[in-house]
Amino acid sequence: MTEQTLSGKKPFLYVVVCAAGVAGDVGRLITAAQERNWDVGVVATPQGLGFLDAEAIEAQTGYPIRSAWRTPGEARPLPPADAIAVAPATFNTVNKWAAGISDTLALGILCEAYGMGIPTTVLPYLNSAQAAHPAYRRSLDQLREMGVLIGSYEPHKPKAGGGADRFRWEEALELLAPALSART
Ligand SMILES: Cc1cc2nc3c(=O)[nH]c(=O)nc-3n(C[C@H](O)[C@H](O)[C@H](O)COP(=O)(O)O)c2cc1C
Repeated sequence: MTEQTLSGKKPFLYVVVCAAGVAGDVGRLITAAQERNWDVGVVATPQGLGFLDAEAIEAQTGYPIRSAWRTPGEARPLPPADAIAVAPATFNTVNKWAAGISDTLALGILCEAYGMGIPTTVLPYLNSAQAAHPAYRRSLDQLREMGVLIGSYEPHKPKAGGGADRFRWEEALELLAPALSART
């Protein structure tokens, strides 16, 4: 899949990164997106920032990582998003997003994306004890109803080291492709 907007400019993908075990590998999604002709900017949750090599990501994307709200009057650090991939998404951010809570910049962007009609995908990465909480199933149902495209990662066992080898970063791009080709 190679993406191009009607204006001929490269489309812009926001990758929203939460504080989950695989977050440090987000460069893999950035590379895959850039190979498909996206420009990419990273928005991290405040907790997620601690999982990232900010210097490496900023060198790779050419943009500062956003995590906090800008001050009034400050220029917008990133162009507007043509699509959003939340990867990895935590239990915490999935539940807050579905409930309409907007207490991080990442959540603020996600909560508004629905109303702005921005194609959005989420790749949750969590364990089966977290996924068993009834709120999580309700959150996924809510996000699905909002048109959010949900990744297929099967939660790993708690305290068992995670499932990074099964986490398919490229799935975010595969899920977004039909939504984007319908718009061009
Ligand atoms: C080393 C470490 C790994 C973590 N991995 C996960 C994870 O894979 N999935 C998850 O939902 N939470 C995980 N957590 C818990 C989240 O970091 C925590 O809930 C945090 O508040 C999430 O913040 P955020 O949703 O704003 O990024 C982890 C915490 C630590 C310290």
